[in-house]
Amino acid sequence: MAEIVHVPLDGGRAYDIHIGAGLLTNVGEVVNGVARSNRAVIVSQPPIAKHYAKTVADSLVAAGFDAPDVVLFPAGERYKTHRTLEKLYGALYELRPAIDRKTLLVALGGGVVGDVVGFLAATYLRGLDYVQVPTTLLAMVDSSVGGKTGIDYRAGKNLIGAFHQPRAVFADTATLRTLPVRELQAGSAEVIKYGVIRLPRLIDDVIASSEFGTICGPRYPHAVLSGAIRRSCEIKAEVVTRDEYETTGLRAILNFGHTIGHAVEAATNYRRYKHGEAVAIGMIAAACIGEVAGVTPPQVRDDVRRAVFNAKLPSALPDDVSDDALIALLGRDKKSENGAPKFVLARALGDVVSGVAVEESAIREGLAMQRAKYTAEGVPS
Ligand code: NAD
Ligand code: GLY
Repeated sequence: MAEIVHVPLDGGRAYDIHIGAGLLTNVGEVVNGVARSNRAVIVSQPPIAKHYAKTVADSLVAAGFDAPDVVLFPAGERYKTHRTLEKLYGALYELRPAIDRKTLLVALGGGVVGDVVGFLAATYLRGLDYVQVPTTLLAMVDSSVGGKTGIDYRAGKNLIGAFHQPRAVFADTATLRTLPVRELQAGSAEVIKYGVIRLPRLIDDVIASSEFGTICGPRYPHAVLSGAIRRSCEIKAEVVTRDEYETTGLRAILNFGHTIGHAVEAATNYRRYKHGEAVAIGMIAAACIGEVAGVTPPQVRDDVRRAVFNAKLPSALPDDVSDDALIALLGRDKKSENGAPKFVLARALGDVVSGVAVEESAIREGLAMQRAKYTAEGVPS
């Protein structure tokens, strides 16, 4: 049984997030209701396509679509680039019969696939419809919802992009069974984030789920996991609907932990940490900086750290990246104004404030606190 979270955007752009185990077989049926033609192209990565592309393609054909083309690009954040995009434009251009503006793109994969395919859909032929079929926990709770699409540029994360909402989202929790456990843990960082910004009980859900490692085991609390996905999507849907283009400061709360997190990812060339791991480090940094700035009580820092630690995520800043290097990267963050970074800081669990300008001296003091308190345990090898 799928649960549905509605994203009530205006202008005919409202869509549903379908959440449930085994719903890939129903993608075609639901997509039929939103597609403008019977032509679809599945875009994915080899590790995902080998498990799930046929199921999605069969479901589309069963619903009356032409057999969809499947276009693949390599897995990894380092492929979230204009080079990949250029190759994907070429692959779409070469398809025969030629695709047209009514063709539907199906983004089958994690956040990298979703962001790249969303941007492909936003730009090719001046805009195609697309649906998101997230296959990582991170993509199910965050990146597949809300229409932020894009690619990385040089040292900048998601510097090139567009807002382009999907027509539907299908989060089949059964796909998480093939997800490496480290990716599952990385995704739980974004669930912890929702706990900090809105709903503290999500932190307990993450801790309850993470004790079991992979979701394959018979004792794994699936209901806890799917409940956490639904609640995370409800928060994201509400925030995105009220501040779709991030103009009021509300949507910015979704970036709790991302300011330093993005800098850590960039400073380590997007290779050492999973995005969620960098966000975990960034959430501890935000708590420390918030404490120095007089916004975050020490108890909240302890709670965030407990959540991160229990979810087997890293807390420590990388020893080989200096504070100078991190601070230099902050000026390039998309949320910076005149080169000055803006932070999301926690006043309590479930209550954050966005757009806070913090003096560089306080940022340095917060980073020093993090380095002193949290050492290398939990850092991925
Ligand atoms: P990812 O997309 O790189 O996926 C992780 C790895 O798991 C990849 O190797 C992928 O091929 C593999 N994989 C995915 N699903 C699988 C499955 N079910 N079984 C086996 N292997 C599978 O990483 P991610 O954590 O999903 O996404 C991170 C990206 O999301 C970052 O680029 C980040 O910037 C972006 N993001 C975007 C938003 C947004 O609002 N658009 C929000 C958060 C994060
Ligand atoms: N992941 C942040 C946002 O969607 O705004």
